[in-house]
Parts: sequence; structure tokens; C-alpha cells
Amino acid sequence: MTLVAKASQELKAPSAEGKKTSYEKWLESEGIPVVKAFFIEDVRTVKLGRWERKGGFGAFLQMEGAGQVNNCYICEIPPGKSLKPQRHLFEETIYVVSGRGATTVWNHKEEKQTFEWQTGSLFSPPLNSWHQHFNGSGAEPARYLAVTTAPTMINLLHNLDFIFNNDFPFDDRFDGTEGYFSGQGLLYAGDYKGFKFAGNVWETNFVPDVRRFKLMDYAERGAGGSNIKFELSENTTACHISEFPVGTYKKAHRHGPGAHVIILSGQGYSLLWPEGNPIRRYDWHEGSMVVPPENWWHQHFNTGREPARYLALRAFGSKKYRGAGKRYKGTVDRREGGDQIEYRDEEPIVRQMFDQALAQRGIRSQMERYYQKKL
Ligand SMILES: [Fe+2]
Repeated sequence: MTLVAKASQELKAPSAEGKKTSYEKWLESEGIPVVKAFFIEDVRTVKLGRWERKGGFGAFLQMEGAGQVNNCYICEIPPGKSLKPQRHLFEETIYVVSGRGATTVWNHKEEKQTFEWQTGSLFSPPLNSWHQHFNGSGAEPARYLAVTTAPTMINLLHNLDFIFNNDFPFDDRFDGTEGYFSGQGLLYAGDYKGFKFAGNVWETNFVPDVRRFKLMDYAERGAGGSNIKFELSENTTACHISEFPVGTYKKAHRHGPGAHVIILSGQGYSLLWPEGNPIRRYDWHEGSMVVPPENWWHQHFNTGREPARYLALRAFGSKKYRGAGKRYKGTVDRREGGDQIEYRDEEPIVRQMFDQALAQRGIRSQMERYYQKKL
């Protein structure tokens, strides 16, 4: 009894500093704004600060739903300028929010490759490759959004020198092959080179414009939707584009943390809720971003006059390089042990809210045929 009392007296509450992860400490040391949010209204207008590491302007978007498995930042290159060369031991997927320019990538052999990008381009500098971004306009800034695995790597290794100053060449990811960023790709379905694909997977290292990329039918999520999944630069992370028509909404589903959903076009809202808890609603438009937290149900609704399209930059999720973590069954009916809610099992409020939102805008629901449809 005495011993217990003594031990508890010696316990001190950890300081706020002591509660921070290695990644959070690094984040604060970078000296740029850190926006902590559940939802971002518009990534195009997030306020940035001078970022010495990059030689441009930036802000971290620390999204609640990322759960520190991945992170997001915005970076801007002033007109006519370039950023400092970088390399790092975490994966990074880049989506160009606005502007045009070029990126040069090279490895330990010093074989440089340069490719041009524009608003809507998507690519990933291969792990630990040197890369430098240039603004191609002398008049307009170029802004990109990146999702990286920095939190996982920094929290695991807590040695910034190892992360940012490491000579190990990942030749298995990038060996300097000419045309690496040409935009050529392979469409995978079924088995390929020992990897299993469910279909709709496009392996490439550069997508010129995700706003115009041709998608393929994706009936599993309902609503006449289409999508395409990308495998970039031999990454363990993955991303996809999804689109659904006017007057429709997708089925609710859930999965792991860190899927940064960026609205590319259209207008609508998303509902998000943890099982048995109140529903949150976020209205969105081009440039909005939401990250569903791990295991939260979420569902996307199109209330606009054009198809709604989004880009999801995820934590892990590669079909080629499977990682650890819970395997969700995102397209399997919840009644069968899956992680998707079929239309027939929705709470009545879901349809009511959608019908009301469409009625306010004079748009007809196209959902009847999907409510009836059996997969
Ligand atoms: Fe999702």
C-alpha cells in the first residue's frame, strides 16, 4: 500500500512538449503555418508563410483524419523562381493546384530528367531521388499540394539527418531510365507479374491532368460512378480519381486513415460519422478537401449541375506493395461483414437530406435506378 502511494506521488504529468510526437516537433521547427483542421474549404486560398527548406512559401495541413500516418502540405513557387533541390526518405505525391512549370529529377548517377506540368498534373518524385521544381511562368505563382508519409517515417526513425541526408539509392524505384516521367502507363486487371489487381489500376509516373483523365466504370460504390486508381513511382502509397453523375450520391463506406479527398470539380457535400454517433456534414466545391478519419463512415453527394470529381491521395493502399494495417472490405455489404452500407440500409435522413438539397437547386434526383439495382 505504501509502495503504491509512493510511486503515484513520483509520477509527474508529462509536459505539453513531452506529449508531442517527433513528427509534430519537426512540423513546428519548419517555421511555416500549421493548419489543424477536419475540412479545408479551399486549398487554393490557404495562407502560406516563407519556407526556408524549400525556398518558397508553404503551409502544413494537419488533418485530423490523417491520424499521423501521412500528412499534407501546400507549397508555392513565386513567379519566375525555382525551389531548392530536395530529397527525403518518405514518399510524396504531388498534385498541381495552379500554375505551370517543370521538375528535374536525378539520382546518384546524376542523370537528370526534366518534365513539364500544369494545373491538374499528378506525379511522385521517387523515394530519396533528388528533385527540384521550377515555376514556368514569370507572372503567376505555381501552387502544389503534396501528401507524404513523413509522419510515419519521422516518428519511427526520429533522426532528421537520416531522413533528409541519406545517400542510399533506391534503384529498384528509379534507376534513371529515360522517359520515366513520359506519362506512359499500363492498365492492370487480374494478375500481372505476380500482383493481383481488382481492375481500374493505371500504373504510371506522371498524369498530365487528373481533371480530364478518362475513368472506368466503378459500379460497386453505386450511383453510376467511375474511377481509376494510380500506382506511381513504385510507391506503397496510392491514389485514385472518382467521379459520379449529376443527381446522384455514392454509398457510405469506411476504411483506414489518411485519404485526402480533394474536390476537382462539381458541388456537393460529404457526410461523416463514427458508428452510432451524430453525422457531420461538410459542403464542398472545387478546391475543398476532407479526410475521413479511420473507421468513420463517409458518403459523398453531388448537388451540382455537373459531374462531381475528386482526387484521393491515400496513406499506403498500393495494390502492388501491400502494407500492414487492418484490411477493410470497402465494397462489401455491411450485412456480409464488409465496410459498405447499401442504399437499402441507409438511415432515412440520408435520402431526405439529399432530396431536399436537390429540390432547393431545382435538380432532379437520378437515384431511383440505383436504389433498385442489385449488384
Ligand atoms: Fe473513402
